[in-house]
Amino acid sequence: MIWTLDIPVYFKPTFIWQAGQHLTFKKEVNGEEIRRSYSIVNQANSDDIQVLIKKVDGGLFSEPAQSEYQIGDTVEVMAPTGHFVMVPQDDKTYAMFAAGSGITPILGMIYEVMNNSNSHINLYYGNSTVESTLMKTQLADLKDQYPERLSISYFLSQEPIDVDLYAGRINAEKVAKIYNNELEALDIAGYYLCGPGGMIDEVKSVLAKKGVNDKIIHSEQFLSEGQVMSEKKKTATLDSGVMVTIDGVTSRYEIKQGEDKTLLDAALDAKIKMPYSCKAGVCATCRCKLVEGEVDMQNNYSLEDWELEKGYILTCQSLPKTKKIVIDYDG
Ligand code: FES
Repeated sequence: MIWTLDIPVYFKPTFIWQAGQHLTFKKEVNGEEIRRSYSIVNQANSDDIQVLIKKVDGGLFSEPAQSEYQIGDTVEVMAPTGHFVMVPQDDKTYAMFAAGSGITPILGMIYEVMNNSNSHINLYYGNSTVESTLMKTQLADLKDQYPERLSISYFLSQEPIDVDLYAGRINAEKVAKIYNNELEALDIAGYYLCGPGGMIDEVKSVLAKKGVNDKIIHSEQFLSEGQVMSEKKKTATLDSGVMVTIDGVTSRYEIKQGEDKTLLDAALDAKIKMPYSCKAGVCATCRCKLVEGEVDMQNNYSLEDWELEKGYILTCQSLPKTKKIVIDYDG
């Protein structure tokens, strides 16, 4: 189901977004606040914002999203965020690989490229069946509108399809063929990947073998509602004081040795409002800069190498390694 959000005029300046970003919704369930992120699927900075909320059985947000809310209801939502973004240049060709719901941020990027540049896109999009293929109407409309600049190859894993290359999941073997037959000659300016971790790993491994510069490869792992990533549970090995700056305000809180709390958990316990959504190292909503000290980051499914080099961390995954930690959300 696509939700279209009408942003109150007062909040419009806050709800400026870049293609590929997402919204995080809050909802109270049995007295507990839950948060869920959904990628924005329409043209950046349109009058309304649209997100696709795919129903997941038992999903605490996605199930009621289909039935409980009525047109005209008010929902609580954070400003657009996310670092899997694209600002297209002219006269380029981009390659995009998506699977399932991974199409959502990619679709926003396609609108951006088609409507705001003269560049080309080759999209490789995997689903189980035609019926389950998300956003196919929007993609067909885009293809009709930009037949010369948008190429779409559909892959189906659970339905017969004539051409062998397109039968089955997008995997390393298929990506290697696509690279050799199509992409190598196109001088691709940027690769954008979104889907399950396995697909992203396979595409990246082929591109690495082909010598593609990893600086032009961008990815975001898609996490279904309720899906849990592997967690390496650890506890703080020392007492640590944390200074955090958000929106120009600096606060201090502590994590005690032996506590099973990340930098984010301890801040929330101290009633400091740090941004977060998935708490699984995937969405990067909790990303901030580590200004001083060291942390042990348990999982990272979202930050790219250049972000790590610049000192960005995910607070939902970070345990203190030094007595003093200084982090900055404004940097
Ligand atoms: S809250 Fe999603 S990565 Fe930390």
